[in-house]
Amino acid sequence: MIEKTNLAQGATTAMLRVENLSHRVDLGNDTLTILQGVNLEIKRSESVAIVGRSGSGKTTLLGLLAGLDTPTEGVVHLDGARISELSEDKRAQLRAQRVGFVFQSFQLLPALTALENVMLPLELGGHKEPAARARELLSRVGLGERLTHTPRQLSGGEQQRVAIARAFAADPIVLFADEPTGNLDNHTGQAISDLLMTLNREQGTTLVMVTHDELLAARCERQFHIEAGVLTEPASLQRAQEEPVQ
Ligand SMILES: Nc1ncnc2c1ncn2[C@@H]1O[C@H](COP(=O)(O)OP(=O)(O)OP(=O)(O)O)[C@@H](O)[C@H]1O
Ligand SMILES: [Mg+2]
Repeated sequence: MIEKTNLAQGATTAMLRVENLSHRVDLGNDTLTILQGVNLEIKRSESVAIVGRSGSGKTTLLGLLAGLDTPTEGVVHLDGARISELSEDKRAQLRAQRVGFVFQSFQLLPALTALENVMLPLELGGHKEPAARARELLSRVGLGERLTHTPRQLSGGEQQRVAIARAFAADPIVLFADEPTGNLDNHTGQAISDLLMTLNREQGTTLVMVTHDELLAARCERQFHIEAGVLTEPASLQRAQEEPVQ
């Protein structure tokens, strides 16, 4: 059993720490390098945006940070645990307790209704009132009237909002979101951005988001850029240059 966060320890431990991470896939006659030499430290309660063009490695990076996959090289520490070195079962356990993930392709279960999709992680986590909590979350994302629809009966933007409600459900301490406003109109996208930022501010949820939404990226405390698998933090570089020399 992995212990829940110890708050006293939490104050000093980074939420995420990545050391020299690289990821390659074997294509049979060739090796494709998707990520190379990524180093990163994200503090508890920080909000972070990762931007970069299609195919630059964003989804791959998010999956490795969240322990959905393991890198070919390097280490990922999540809340003090070396998640990249744990077994698949242990990673799943750690994710269930601490991580929320909004997939770019939603990954809702097609046979379940919106309500049941959001209830599932709550039931697995032993929540006392999964239906009430799921209803409340779906209302917060504007889907109170769509509880019994299955994913096929929902629009792309509605499915995205179910995926967001599901990711929030178990009160994760870190939320990863891959293009959380990607399928939403401006108005709904703004409402979802507000919800994410409120969660970050009020509950201290660490947010790590991949986004093409410039407004959402600008609301995050830190912005990273990724190009051909290489991650940089242009704004912090600028800040460092602006600091007076001692
Ligand atoms: N399992 C895999 N096998 C082979 N190539 C892969 C695999 N996973 C990802 N890739 C390749 O790695 C690159 C990065 O993929 P990734 O999904 O991380 O990009 P992305 O930045 O999220 O792009 P998008 O903005 O289009 O979602 C792509 O060129 C992709 O084709
Ligand atoms: Mg992607």
